[in-house]
Amino acid sequence: MTVSIAREGTIAVVTIDNPPVNALSQALRQGLWDAVGALDADPDIRAVVLICAGRTFIAGADVSEFGKPPMEPHLPDLVARIETAAKPWIAAIHGSALGGGLEVALGCRFRVAVPSAALGLPEVTLGIVPGAGGTVRTPRLVGAVEAAAMATSGKPVKAARALAIGLIDQIIDGDLRAGAVAFAEAALNAPLPAPVCARDPAPAPEGFWAAQEAAVAKAAKGAVAPLRALDCVKRAVTGDFTAAMAFERETFLDLRGSDQAAALRHVFFAERAAPRPSTLKDVTARPIATTAVIGGGTMGAGIAAALRDAGLPVVLIERDDTAVARGLANLGAIYDGAVKRGRLSEAQAADRMAGVTGTTDYAALADVDLVIEAVFEEIGVKRAVFAELGRLCRPDAILATNTSYLDPRAIAEGLPHPDRFIGLHFFSPANVMKLLEIVPTADTAPQVLASGFALARSLGKMPVQAGICDGFIGNRILKRYRAAAEALVREGIAIAEVDAAMRGFGLAMGPFEAQDLGGLDIAFLQREGARARGEDVPEMLGDILVRAGRKGQKTGGGWYDYAPGDRKPVPSDTVAGLLAAQITPGAGMDRAAIAARLVAEMAEEGAAILAEGIAQKSSDIDLVKIHGYGFPRWRGGPMFHAIRRGIDGLTQDLGRAPAPALAALIQR
Ligand code: 3HC
Ligand code: NAI
Repeated sequence: MTVSIAREGTIAVVTIDNPPVNALSQALRQGLWDAVGALDADPDIRAVVLICAGRTFIAGADVSEFGKPPMEPHLPDLVARIETAAKPWIAAIHGSALGGGLEVALGCRFRVAVPSAALGLPEVTLGIVPGAGGTVRTPRLVGAVEAAAMATSGKPVKAARALAIGLIDQIIDGDLRAGAVAFAEAALNAPLPAPVCARDPAPAPEGFWAAQEAAVAKAAKGAVAPLRALDCVKRAVTGDFTAAMAFERETFLDLRGSDQAAALRHVFFAERAAPRPSTLKDVTARPIATTAVIGGGTMGAGIAAALRDAGLPVVLIERDDTAVARGLANLGAIYDGAVKRGRLSEAQAADRMAGVTGTTDYAALADVDLVIEAVFEEIGVKRAVFAELGRLCRPDAILATNTSYLDPRAIAEGLPHPDRFIGLHFFSPANVMKLLEIVPTADTAPQVLASGFALARSLGKMPVQAGICDGFIGNRILKRYRAAAEALVREGIAIAEVDAAMRGFGLAMGPFEAQDLGGLDIAFLQREGARARGEDVPEMLGDILVRAGRKGQKTGGGWYDYAPGDRKPVPSDTVAGLLAAQITPGAGMDRAAIAARLVAEMAEEGAAILAEGIAQKSSDIDLVKIHGYGFPRWRGGPMFHAIRRGIDGLTQDLGRAPAPALAALIQR
């Protein structure tokens, strides 16, 4: 039963049980609707506690109903019915009261919550605004400033903060149901407050709206919902309740059918599916309680920080004592930064550092559960490391490589018990970037693969399984993207135009400025390595720049010039001169067409990756680009974008028919 009613004296307890997260499906809305009617008609009942079974209070509208026609009873009507019920309702909150869940709670006369509860309006993260009074009732409880912050950021507030700002009335320590019933009994002994709809919102301070509009637009980076949510809160504070409700509903319905909302829903479900692949449903992960990282450079230090942040102890192995000290200093610098930015206290940072043992002695690895190798990207160095690991680690210890481009099978060659070997490809900075590519070999045991996913969950990473090919999923698409960007430059499109086009599309940086930041030399050396092995690697424009000493910002110039100490890219006459012979001007393209071309090329590579079985799902490729490469979330990822464009759109974007793999994916 989705909604059940129990009685404790004169207090009714309405319990919602709609697993997994008590989302407001049509059946649940109907159940609550009927409960209001039944309890209004019950003369023995004086107040109603609304509580949820399972892990959480109502987590929101049922997102899977969003693509379908709305069904009665509509949520705004249900909230109004609770609000105008003859008996006061009290929301008893545990877990999360989000979106429609918070809106139902706002319809109640009181809200109480356990200390661990969180309350929020995450609708903007789905490309919509609250649709059942969230932007209208919230400011009537907490004022314009707090309501605007909640509705535009989508970030929930914890119970203590909710109490401080007036969103809830009491925190219940101990049993929630008993506490809420006691609260209800006490509340009946005093005059009832007005329902939220009848209260006046505290006005915003002078200049607030203009300042907020600028700040929200900047933070939204192209997403439209946050500004629309701000508009709704503004209306709610400056106009009357009924008009504000109508405005919010109209905005909600308008956005619900938008491309951005469709894209964000796609990402929502992709993100929830990714950490728990159905193929591993019955596979038990190996426990990981102790870890080690080999190499304390850029990646090793970042990975160690990620492990420490999840509470795991880390042994950090380096080549010699000086390198150990440098590795620990790299890690220390990460934590100093976190303290400076206020993310960690000094004590927390010290605690994280205290959990790291730096050493050159591989004997320290005899009993660890997981080792992640992040030494130089050289096959000989890596194989030597794995030879040691093979000798010294437990046969069931998981041994992972963080290689970017080397073939993991070659790294693991000769390793005893190769079933424990796996690729765990982190992205820089490894303690910040959410993406984790998990790369099994044919020998990797299912439990080891499942352990990779379990590790990702405990580190708060977004895991995506990738097969073995040059660059796995993400870097392979990156390579194609860069080549396509260079092709446009060869057609006479200015470097700065390409970058501006991609920024306009929603990326934080264009392909050339991003290379200048990261350095052109890494990809160059990799191409040179392949050439030395006799592979046919065509000359890139980037090769010409690196040969001329232009490796990016670190050498004072790459695709652009940089004034000393300044990160602002300045179009370079030197580069124009170096590349002049390579450029054959074509018809030119506007920025939208440039971005469309590059994204279509990414999707074409993605489709090939999928067809080859390197990626398991098209949505996994979208997650890789969103969480590893700054692809705008509200665009849904390159694959989602391409599928929406369709064959005709892509033919226009590419200037030719899409490759068969992409065409087949679209027609599927
Ligand atoms: N609708 C439908 N399904 C939902 C859902 C929702 N609102 N929220 C979560 N689910 C599903 C997930 O897809 C997942 O399904 P699966 O088990 O089949 O894969 C399952 O519930 C569990 O979700 P999580 O893995 O995310 O569970 P957690 O325990 O880690 O997190 C949570 C719980 C914090 C509630 C998290 O699920 C969450 O943040 N959900 C989204 C909440 C949200 O965005 N609500 C607003 C909806 S929009 C709205 O309410 C509009 C209104 O104003 C009209
Ligand atoms: P780095 O050069 O910053 O660090 C490598 C570290 O390994 C150095 O500190 C070095 O002293 C140490 N080392 C070398 N040989 C060792 C040995 N035998 N035993 C112990 N330590 C040893 O390199 P970076 O950038 O951290 O890369 C490491 C690995 O991570 C490479 O495989 C790279 O391809 C991969 N990677 C790099 C990314 C990046 O953005 N830099 C992203 C993802 C993966």
